[in-house]
Amino acid sequence: MTQTAAQGSPLAPEWLAVPADLNALHQPMWARDVARNGDGELSIDGIPVSELQRQYGTPLFVMSENDFRARARAFSDAFNDAFADICGGVDVYYAGKSFLCTSVVRWVEEEGLRLDTASGGELAVAHRAGIPGADVALHGNNKSDAEIHRALDMGLGRIVVDSLAELQRVGSIAQARGEQAKVMLRLTPGVHAHTHEFIATAHEDQKFGLSMAADTTDEAGISAAEEAVAAAAAHPGIELLGLHCHIGSQIFEPDGFALAAQKLLRFLAAMQGKYSITMPELDLGGGYGIAYTPVDTPRPAAEIATAMAAVVRSTCAELGIDAPRISIEPGRAIVGSTTFTLYEVGTLKTVRVDAPAASAGGDAGNNVTYPRRYVSVDGGMSDNARPVLYDADYSAVLASRTSDAAPQLSRVVGKHCESGDIVVRDVYLPEDVAAGDLLAVPGTGAYCWALSSNYNYLARPGVVAVRDGSARLIVRGETEEDLLNRDMGA
Ligand code: LLP
Repeated sequence: MTQTAAQGSPLAPEWLAVPADLNALHQPMWARDVARNGDGELSIDGIPVSELQRQYGTPLFVMSENDFRARARAFSDAFNDAFADICGGVDVYYAGKSFLCTSVVRWVEEEGLRLDTASGGELAVAHRAGIPGADVALHGNNKSDAEIHRALDMGLGRIVVDSLAELQRVGSIAQARGEQAKVMLRLTPGVHAHTHEFIATAHEDQKFGLSMAADTTDEAGISAAEEAVAAAAAHPGIELLGLHCHIGSQIFEPDGFALAAQKLLRFLAAMQGKYSITMPELDLGGGYGIAYTPVDTPRPAAEIATAMAAVVRSTCAELGIDAPRISIEPGRAIVGSTTFTLYEVGTLKTVRVDAPAASAGGDAGNNVTYPRRYVSVDGGMSDNARPVLYDADYSAVLASRTSDAAPQLSRVVGKHCESGDIVVRDVYLPEDVAAGDLLAVPGTGAYCWALSSNYNYLARPGVVAVRDGSARLIVRGETEEDLLNRDMGA
């Protein structure tokens, strides 16, 4: 049975509509210079995907450099405008964990942003790219002494300290070197946010950060966060810059950010008064969401910035303090939509599935089945672990050509030895998709290459950057030799 445009498959999730035109691109999911060319083929800045496949093979991450730069600037401009009168602007740290290589560090620097890193390896990339250490931050809940030394060697602008024990370690290492480490304290404000919702809890049950909740096992009832402020202020090896929080990822609404800002400002004001110190900086982390499917509706950066600025402005006025310099750490919102993954279609099969009970509309138990087509591609969970890890939804289009064939509910799967190896769980693709066609999955710039693996000895794909009509590799794909050369055979 084929579904018509009017009638979606009962197997499809409720949010998935049958597209009016399967060849159309839902623009919020794509880099701005991606379009279909006159032949109907997907192209980026004029370069057709078949040419990219010929030159670089598939799977391939295809990134628009201009789109990356534009999104970086847009974030920076929006937040700088919104906070100009409050604290003279905002420092935007691109979260390198979302996608990092030396070219990207250079773009970040050229666009006036800074860099957030989370390990010695990410610091090594920053160092190789030549960004000044003063523009780099280091995160991590379990930094090694070697990482702390590396941060100090590079003259890092900030080390975001995650625990009391780490504070002491950073302080002693810096002191032994005759230096002061510039430190922010990462706090858990008890605000968790995800996409449309946030929840405020008394205590965060997770590994990161210093709790702001009063310690009920201690008579003084002092929170870990306060203990850390007092210890940092007293430590000769520490210059305490301020406070940090990060409330979650893929968040659309500004409310959670605003509440976290308010909680941290109140705490900052209380600590400044109690310990007679000044904390000149406040980092509100990253987490701004993007569109992975047509139903995702992220807010423009300006809308979030304005809402956050309003709360920072009013809270500082209410507390009678000068606003600290605000910083943020967007990763996904800058790089996520700049990139699509290009795959070649291989094996196809269609299975027949019972109607799900909830949407059966009388079909359940009547032996009525519906088709679901499995479209296998030449990558999978090794280049995009997010569907497996987070149940993340993606979308896909037929990229090598257009098609007038009817829409068919499809599941794009990889080539790994796991039935859970899903790239796009549910998408309508033209019925005539065949082996040798190219598929493009948008929104794969963040946490895809970064989380890629060599499962089943697949080589990790390369990343091509396209700018002003020409393409170049910014990370080359692995070869079989790369895969074998750490096997010592000993
Ligand atoms: N700052 C800190 C301290 C973070 O931990 C993160 C992300 C960010 C900034 C950047 O968040 P973004 O703006 O990119 O959402 N692998 C997961 C996301 C993990 C996020 C980890 N921390 C995913 O693929 O959804």
